[in-house]
Amino acid sequence: MLTPIHRRNFIKKSSTAVAAIALLPSMVLGLPKEKKARLGFIGVGLRGRNHVTNTLLFPDAEIIAICDIDPNAIMETQNLLKKAGRKAAAVYGKNEQDFENLVKRQDLDGVVISTPWEWHVPMAIAAMNAGKYAGIEVSATVKLEESWQLVDTFERTGSHCMILENVCYRRDVMAVLNMVRQGLFGDISHLQCGYQHDLRHVKFNNGQQPYGGGVEFGEKGFSEARWRTQHSIDRNGDLYPTHGLGPVAQMININRGNQFLYLTSMATKSAGLHKYIVDNGGENHPNAKVNFKLGDIVQTMIKCANGETILITHDTNLPRPYSLGFRVQGTNGLWQDDGDKIYLEKISKTPHEWEPDTEYLKKYDHKYWRESEQVAQGSGHGGMDYFVIRDFIQAVKNRTAPPIDVYDAAAWSAISPLSEESIVKGSAPIPIPDFTRGKWKNAKPVFAL
Ligand SMILES: NC(=O)c1ccc[n+]([C@@H]2O[C@H](COP(=O)([O-])OP(=O)(O)OC[C@H]3O[C@@H](n4cnc5c(N)ncnc54)[C@H](O)[C@@H]3O)[C@@H](O)[C@H]2O)c1
Repeated sequence: MLTPIHRRNFIKKSSTAVAAIALLPSMVLGLPKEKKARLGFIGVGLRGRNHVTNTLLFPDAEIIAICDIDPNAIMETQNLLKKAGRKAAAVYGKNEQDFENLVKRQDLDGVVISTPWEWHVPMAIAAMNAGKYAGIEVSATVKLEESWQLVDTFERTGSHCMILENVCYRRDVMAVLNMVRQGLFGDISHLQCGYQHDLRHVKFNNGQQPYGGGVEFGEKGFSEARWRTQHSIDRNGDLYPTHGLGPVAQMININRGNQFLYLTSMATKSAGLHKYIVDNGGENHPNAKVNFKLGDIVQTMIKCANGETILITHDTNLPRPYSLGFRVQGTNGLWQDDGDKIYLEKISKTPHEWEPDTEYLKKYDHKYWRESEQVAQGSGHGGMDYFVIRDFIQAVKNRTAPPIDVYDAAAWSAISPLSEESIVKGSAPIPIPDFTRGKWKNAKPVFAL
């Protein structure tokens, strides 16, 4: 077990080992240092336009080209650029493959991909093959082989790939990461996290903006209802693991001294989506006949090389308030995000009693937030969206490895198909591949140091 002092030294040393996981040279771009990050955006729906809006905050980033098959999304994006006094972007989107023409442009250094999940990997691979950095929305991959394809493409081309996991930058999560790194919780044993978000109104809507509260999806739906709901028909597993898993993976140095070993998953019955359709569309609505494979709650337990367990919950189809359900627990105590509470043995005032976490979060506030609170706060999701795009832009501009890299994208996203496999096999343990091919043993943490 590392004492707080040892941990501090460890972190200090680690900070000089820049991007140790990305062992290949960053040979992607031939830019002089002062150049701007010249970006293209593929998918400028709701999320892509968030990224465009936040990118406009950075004078050292240029929005050169945008691609979307929906002309309305293109129009809305050009309006954003116009309002900000920026030049109109070159437009792609005459068909579903037009992104291939965008990534070939000589005047681009990086591409931000915010399309439906199944498009992430073909688009990222095209971008990386064309020598561009790829920033991919979450989850990065849908199928296990896609995780390998991302890794193989990076290792072959040297083009970096960052999964744009914004929750790694959430203010309380970053403060707790500081606390973990300074040894406050002792030796970490167990973590919990998840995606507990009632998405029924997102999965079904009637084409109204914002979400209309209808029961339509597919071609009749709007935004995510056009594509996300189909995954709940076809698949039973943790469909969206990275918002929870990314942050806790950083806390226990996954891919950098630690590794996921295997997982087991279990799903409840599927009842919530059908009930929503009947309640809102009537039992004779055609969608009331749809069979949803996705269990209302899917829980996945991961065992890690250094002995920790992680419990991830996917809970999107039942009524509930939003929570990512973080719990970080070690030999000295624990933090829980539900209830915003903490207990630290010999530090908390009363033995066996929770304290509010407010003062701890203030004391261990991460430097990202201390230094950039004002500018970040206006961006999406309480400010964390600012930091994730900033780190991507900095990596592109400086030709450095991003702090969340292709191995993170591969390992965090692979939990989806592996959880599906475990459920099909009666919750059997399923090995989680080592996408670093052994490099995790010597790699050092790099995130937000
Ligand atoms: N990190 C977060 O907090 C967060 C929040 C919301 C969404 N997301 C992720 O962002 C991604 C996009 O989600 P969204 O909510 O913006 O969905 P959306 O449906 O609003 O946007 C997707 C866009 O992609 C376009 N598109 C689809 N196929 C295309 C193709 N072949 N070529 C070009 N454009 C294509 C669509 O026309 C649409 O405009 C998803 O991966 C989602 O999980 C992340």
